[in-house]
Amino acid sequence: MRSAANGRSATSDTNQRLFYIPEINKKFANSWAGSALLKESTLHQVSPYIGKMKSSMASTLISAFTQIEDTIYDPFCGSGSIALEAWTAGRAVIANDLSPYAGTLTRAKLFPVTSIVDAYAEIDSAANQVQKIVAAIDLRKIPTWVRKFFHQETLRETVAWSEVLKNRKSYFLLSCLLGILHHQRPGFLSYPSSHTVPYLREKNYPRHLYPHLYEYRSVRSRLEKKVGRALKRVPVLDPQVTRSCYMRNAADFIPDARVDAIITSPPYMRQLDYGRDNRLRLWFLGESNWKSLDSNISPHEVKFLTVFKRCLKLWHKVLTPSGVCVLVLGDVHSRYYGRPLPDVITHMATEEVGGYSLIWKHTEEIPKTRRVRRDCSGSQSETFLVLRRC
Ligand SMILES: C[S@@+](CC[C@H](N)C(=O)[O-])C[C@H]1O[C@@H](n2cnc3c(N)ncnc32)[C@H](O)[C@@H]1O
Repeated sequence: MRSAANGRSATSDTNQRLFYIPEINKKFANSWAGSALLKESTLHQVSPYIGKMKSSMASTLISAFTQIEDTIYDPFCGSGSIALEAWTAGRAVIANDLSPYAGTLTRAKLFPVTSIVDAYAEIDSAANQVQKIVAAIDLRKIPTWVRKFFHQETLRETVAWSEVLKNRKSYFLLSCLLGILHHQRPGFLSYPSSHTVPYLREKNYPRHLYPHLYEYRSVRSRLEKKVGRALKRVPVLDPQVTRSCYMRNAADFIPDARVDAIITSPPYMRQLDYGRDNRLRLWFLGESNWKSLDSNISPHEVKFLTVFKRCLKLWHKVLTPSGVCVLVLGDVHSRYYGRPLPDVITHMATEEVGGYSLIWKHTEEIPKTRRVRRDCSGSQSETFLVLRRC
């Protein structure tokens, strides 16, 4: 992997990380093909996340551009797909995301309870605390839009469980709870609703025709089953590997360790609404103002470009001398620059900020089934840019 660059033979500069580009191109041919669902670790499926990277794609990027014992930083980690694949591949991980939902999921993946026996013991202990506080939960303090999703006794219990798990910093169980918060299937807690984004489906499932979908649902039994599903397929994970997860603005945050690679998919130009679409889960995490969160985590074009320029400057300080920055970007068009976003970012890194050179660029069409907005308003292809610090 590191023996040649750009299809030519290796140079004598041993400080440079060298990549054999034809081999990388081969690895990426059809990398969107097929589903990873039945092969990937079930930890990836603990709870949905819009804009989540396909785990096999994360794993391919990691194996192509880093080596064992490297440190990888993902400044916009979302649900932690890159973080978990990096740990699985024996890389030290630094993850970061401003969203409390993203932070919770990534911590669940980086610090999971790995045995079902330990998970049930943790549930038992938390259940004792839930018992003590559940009766005192005052439903009148809960906003109407949240109350609309649940039977009142289910809601009371769900609030108690989320409070207890947050206080215990039990991120794995908390993520499992968030993963069963809304859907119409029997294993979920809400009234009939969509799974990824919270919309009630009262018209498709009217109460008079589907009364059982509006009955009380016990949290504990569903949480136990969810934990079983999340732990069904967990790879061998080395607890000695260093992992950390922060919840900071990526434009202000520098990790305190040098990193060999930054691998990330940033929140380009308001293509997705990470606050709005996760609003119900965020409310249970104590974040009631998703609109204000969205102004930061789902930035419009000019804000995004400002944030990204600051990030490139900071990352230059933290990357090792020949470290790489691997970016996954949508095919959106920048109105400000009048050019496609990947070209804008390349120009920003190599000319405006400087100190980077482009070593690889690859564009893949996203199959229709994986597009986040199927009306085609979202990205139809993704571009991978690899910039080397120089
Ligand atoms: C495309 S998503 C990342 C998805 C991730 N790769 C995954 O597989 O789940 C972009 C993420 O950037 C986060 N974000 C947006 N602006 C941020 C900022 N200024 N600092 C830190 N995180 C930010 C959002 O919360 C969102 O989770």
